[in-house]
Amino acid sequence: MDTGSFVGGLVAGLAICIAVGLFVRFVFAPRNSAVAAAAAEHAVPLLEVKSDSALLQSQDEPSQATLLRLQHMFEVTGDKLSQISKHMMAEMKKGLASDECAMKMIPTHVVRRPKGDEVGSYLALDLGGSNFRVCEITLDGRGGTRSRQSKHVVTDDLKTGTGAALFDFFADQVKHFLMNDGQNEYSAEEIESRNYKLGFTFSFAVNQVSINKGYLLLWNKGFSADNCVGEDVVRLLSEAFRRKKLNIDVTALVNDTTGTLVSHAYGAPDTYIGVILGTGTNAAYVEKVENITKFKSSGTAKDMIINTEWGAFDDEMVVIPRTKYDHKVDRGTSHPKTYTFEKLISGMYLGEVVRYVLLDLVKTGEIFVAGGSASKTLKIQYAFETAYMSRIERDHSLDLSDVRTVLEDLMHIPSTTLADRRLTRAICEMVGKRSARLSAAAIAGVVTKMNKLDGCTVGIDGSLFELYPHFSNRMRDALHEILGFSADNIVLEQARDGSGQGAALIAALATSITE
Ligand code: GLC
Repeated sequence: MDTGSFVGGLVAGLAICIAVGLFVRFVFAPRNSAVAAAAAEHAVPLLEVKSDSALLQSQDEPSQATLLRLQHMFEVTGDKLSQISKHMMAEMKKGLASDECAMKMIPTHVVRRPKGDEVGSYLALDLGGSNFRVCEITLDGRGGTRSRQSKHVVTDDLKTGTGAALFDFFADQVKHFLMNDGQNEYSAEEIESRNYKLGFTFSFAVNQVSINKGYLLLWNKGFSADNCVGEDVVRLLSEAFRRKKLNIDVTALVNDTTGTLVSHAYGAPDTYIGVILGTGTNAAYVEKVENITKFKSSGTAKDMIINTEWGAFDDEMVVIPRTKYDHKVDRGTSHPKTYTFEKLISGMYLGEVVRYVLLDLVKTGEIFVAGGSASKTLKIQYAFETAYMSRIERDHSLDLSDVRTVLEDLMHIPSTTLADRRLTRAICEMVGKRSARLSAAAIAGVVTKMNKLDGCTVGIDGSLFELYPHFSNRMRDALHEILGFSADNIVLEQARDGSGQGAALIAALATSITE
């Protein structure tokens, strides 16, 4: 878009916003400051609350009583955020002292961050959630990298089938990747005769006993492949490589948060935290070895990266308010009552929370009344994707036409009114905002625990942070509510491909940066 049309669009957009804003201000007068603040975020207000005198409900407006009830359920106040962040610190301390805590606080054995002078080519394998990637990363010795990669969907059959089939699938994809590098094709024999070093980014909770050995503690994010829990996942992968006649040494086992932290620190040395806000959520940070009291160190390193596994934070449900919808989502997973923080925050579950709210409102006759009912699609687990929420929140058109597309074309709701669409959008906003605010509270807890309120960078990867509208601004606002001016010292930065590059770096440095 050229500058002229950009400015033109901006002026036209502004004029519409002002007109709509004046109209709404004339008709409605907000009486609840939190609701009003939420409404002020958007050009087309969705959460406006009418004055008592405006009893006549416009056909186009959702019921104020419904909005207020939901708002009350999903709101996390500034005070609550501070409590959550304090509780996060306390839980981190507990987890550093004992293996028996919900939040595992896993020592990663990574004790140094790379210097940037590393060279060589390494393979990285990344199993995150929805996708599986094979990467080859070349470190140029000057802090730069080149990479090529292939990306594959992990089907539900693979996620829930046998462990052997899952790991064979990984090995097959690696073999294909190596046999064709985009320029040359190699025979299976040629590939089988070579030796490779590989870093395995395995983004699940493992009890990591050394840099390339870790026992899977539990599956989450929709995985339940058999014969894996309790096993060393590096052994499972190495055996699959042997079955496929591949000569590959798995020199590092890395969580995606650790990879993100290490690779972001490669370019931004002030990075002390790596966070994932994607299909799942988690964080890794740099801790003093002397504070990891459950860990018997054999080396001299002063610091070590800890994988917090904060997805399991507050599984005891002592501090974060939950709604009946959250409990429904939880009960519908293969691992109820665990990783409940993740279920309030991450991309795998947010759409599911919204789906349960919509179903409930259908039942009480508060939404989709014109169309007569919900749709079969709305009743299907996980059918309302978190990506739809992004789309809905991004729709600023006056008649919310894209919200209509999602509801009527994708979710097959027979017909929707503008009030239905506004209500749906308001629900997405409440659920999306709660996720961003809870993530910020968790980050505030980690930064405070590290004593880094005077300044540090947080490298953040994942589709929520990258693609969900307003997510980072909402996090920022919440950080301010919790930390006051100190929040200005915390840099939240988009990290890219931490899982690939980070694993390759750690594989490259396995002997020098780990213990
Ligand atoms: C889940 C996993 C964790 C991972 C996170 C983000 O919470 O348990 O290891 O880092 O998802 O992918």
